[in-house]
Parts: sequence; C-alpha cells; structure tokens
Amino acid sequence: MLKTFATASRAARTSPRSATAFRMATIRLLSQLVEPKEPSVTTEIPGPESKKVLSELAKLQDARAAQLVGDYTQSVGNYIVDADGNKLLDMYCQIASIPVGYNNEALLKAAKTDEMAITLANRPAMGVLEEAFMAVKPKGMEMIFTSSHGSDANEIAFKAAFMHYARKKRGARGFNAQELESVMENQAPGAPDLSILSFGSSFHGRQFGSLSATRSKALHKLDIPAFKWPKAPFPQLRYPLDKYEAENAAEEARCIEETEQILKTNASPIAAVIVEPIQSEGGDRHASPRFFQELRRITAENDVLLIVDEVQTGCAATGTFWAHEQWNLQTPPDMVTFSKKMQAAGFYHTRALVPDQAYRNFNTWMGDPSRALIAKAIGLVQQVQEVGKYLKGHLEPLAVRYPRVIKNVRGAGTFLAFDCPTAELRAELLELMKNEGVNMGGSGETSVRFRPMLTLTKAHVNVFLTRFESVLNKLYKKHWPQ
Ligand SMILES: Cc1ncc(COP(=O)(O)O)c(C=O)c1O
Repeated sequence: MLKTFATASRAARTSPRSATAFRMATIRLLSQLVEPKEPSVTTEIPGPESKKVLSELAKLQDARAAQLVGDYTQSVGNYIVDADGNKLLDMYCQIASIPVGYNNEALLKAAKTDEMAITLANRPAMGVLEEAFMAVKPKGMEMIFTSSHGSDANEIAFKAAFMHYARKKRGARGFNAQELESVMENQAPGAPDLSILSFGSSFHGRQFGSLSATRSKALHKLDIPAFKWPKAPFPQLRYPLDKYEAENAAEEARCIEETEQILKTNASPIAAVIVEPIQSEGGDRHASPRFFQELRRITAENDVLLIVDEVQTGCAATGTFWAHEQWNLQTPPDMVTFSKKMQAAGFYHTRALVPDQAYRNFNTWMGDPSRALIAKAIGLVQQVQEVGKYLKGHLEPLAVRYPRVIKNVRGAGTFLAFDCPTAELRAELLELMKNEGVNMGGSGETSVRFRPMLTLTKAHVNVFLTRFESVLNKLYKKHWPQ
C-alpha cells in the first residue's frame, strides 16, 4: 500500500536548533505557497533524497510501506511535494484522510490561534469539543462519543452495542455478584458470548475487536487471535448496473436472506451488524440503497443494532455529507462511526445507547480539542457532486476506449473506482501514473480508487485526464502493440 511519511526537514533531524528556526520561517511562508498548475517530476520516485530519508527511517522503524516522502513545507492544495521536489497531483490523500488540501489557509489560520495554542499545550483527558461535529450529525443521531481513530471508533461502538444488549437482557435489576466475579476471569456471564456480524470483504480496522470484524485481507489478520464472530455475504454486483438489474437484485436478495438467517440462528447472539456504505479497502464494492433498506429492516425486525462505518465514506466525499443519506432509510441507523477526513474520530448514536453507568465506555483521550478546532474550520464543500460527475463522465468513455485496462467504472461523488484485469497491470498503471505526477492508490485485489480532496476542481480533473490517457496509451503500446 502506498503511504506517505510526515517527514520533518533534514535540518530538523540533524540539528534541533535549526529545526526551530526552520519551522518558524516555514509557518510564515506556508500561507504564501501557491498550488502548481500541473505536476512536475524530475527524478524517479522515490528519488535520491527520498531514498536517503527512507533508509534513515528504516534504522528506527519498519518503513517498507512508505514509497513517497512528503515535504509538508512545500505541499499545497491538491499537490503533494516530495523530498526531491517532485510535485504530484494527489488523488489518494493519505488514504482518504485529507479534507481540504495541504497547508489550507483556513486550517493554518485556525492552527495559529490562541485557542489552538491552549488546546495543544493542555490536552485534557476526555477532551471533547463537540459543536463542530454536532453541526454535521447524521439524521436521527442525538449524541456523539469521540475517540482517537477509525478502528477505535468501531471498537467503542461495539462495546456500546454489547452493553446495550446486556442491559436489555438484565432488565431492571443491576449487575449481580456472579457477573462481577466471572468477568474478572474473562468468563460468562460477566463476559458474555456475544457477536458483531460483519460482511465478507469488509474493513473495519486493525485492532483486536475491529480486526475480528475485518474481512478484506488475510495478511492483516494472520497470527492474531480473533473473536469467533459471523460473516455475511456482501453482494457482488455486475456492471454496467443497468444491464444487470435483475441479476444484481437477485444477488442482493440472496445476501439479505443469508444475513437474516445468520441473525436468527448464530450460536452466539448478535448484538450489532456493522457495514460500510461502500466497501473501500475491500475493493470499492457497492450495493444499492434497496440492499441497505433491507438490511435496516432485518436488523430492526431481529432487534439487532445497525452500525454504519463511515470512516472512509463520511465528510462529503460521496456527494452527500454522509454516504448513507443516499439510502433514504425510514429508520436511521443506531450508530454511525467516523474518522479520516473528519480529522477526529468517534461515533454518533441514539440516546438509548448511553451506558447505564459512567466510565463504562471510556479512555483517557477520548477526543482531541485541537482536531475539533481544525474540523470546525473545514466547512462544507459543495463541489464534490459536480466534479465527481465530471470525472466519472470522462472515465466511462475511457473504459470503452481502453477496455483491456479499465473496467467497471463506479462510485458516488468523487469517491470513484474502476477495476484492472490483474493486480500486475494495476501496479504498472499506478507506477506509471506516479511518474507522470499523479499519486493514486489501489483497493482490493485489482481496483484503482479515487480519494481526492473535497477541493478537487474540474481543472484538476483535466490535469489528471491528460496524464491518465498518456499512461493508457503507453500500456496499450507495450502490451497490445497493434
Ligand atoms: C471503513 C473503515 N473503517 C475503519 C478504518 C480504520 O481506521 P483507522 O486506520 O483510522 O484505525 C478504515 C481505515 O481505512 C476504514 O476505511
């Protein structure tokens, strides 16, 4: 997976004094940075300077996943600049986590306020600054629980679901002595045998609980003990959607039927179902609003909570602030988890999910007020729908012209993807794109995903398309010469 490192400058590493001087100079200069009109690549990537940084890093930590060394004193807007001065249009954005561009003026301004200095100098235990997040709360959600990152957000949502389940079962009585004793031995009834149901190919994080719900890559799970939680099939849609309407409807109905069967018969009771609106790490897999409406119906009918994991899809990337708004649910989900572009993490929930005693779902740093200040400065960006439509409108004809490379163009807003026929061809395409000055990423086995910032414009798309077509031509010339 392509990852960038937030590198300090070389000066910062060799001399702490010059680091301070450097940083102070930088802060003043950052607001003067101007977004490049187009990419420029003058070395191989990683180039000599980046390789030096990477080999230094490798002495201290496993840096094998890093291929690009970001220089955050030069990166601006939709362009990431690397340690060798290469300027790349960034369509991947630190795994979909940058909302409004590098060195965004409003964010820099927020970062330089007294309020920010105070929150950074005094990080409170359990610090929450909720107003930024409540302004965008999903419909039907009344409360928020903040946490540190996506996996963590899902795990605390799971805990809330388990506590809710146990409370329903316990009724009016409090905890009894047997529960209080057995839980200290990790035994039932205090530590009950309960489950979270997730879908095949899903990704919900890499910590113990979230990893048990993750099903996208064996390598992430290998050697780690797991909860024996059930897995339901996620629909495998066929494209183009209008051609395979009947087949896709049948596939979704099959998945709903199997899911309901598991809800009814799983040996360990299921407290919640967790689902991504678009399976992202698993390969940009989609399902129709009808599938999610049915999922809401069967979870409600079987008295099981529904958690929507919007860690990657949330914060406007799909053209609505929350992707699940596009499902038109009659009854909202019970919890919605978030992180990445939101710049902080956590979950929204209904009041019914507040545990019956304080401290039961808790961590020292449950929120980061400095992140909340940043989130407040993001604001809503309206252009995602229009630019997404423009990009998709150009990708579709390219799929017709270059069918040996591009298949199954899909997505919502700028949260788009296509499939390559093989993993090898995808790797070649991503490498060529990088050398043309466009940073992109894959998802699943063979998909290429678009995860640009919310500030992507049609002009950026045009820059991308020129490079993309040149790469497609190169691939065709090399693999299919006539
Ligand atoms: C849908 C989804 N859920 C959860 C996570 C885990 O988030 P984090 O890596 O911040 O723990 C991710 C990360 O990619 C994700 O895409």
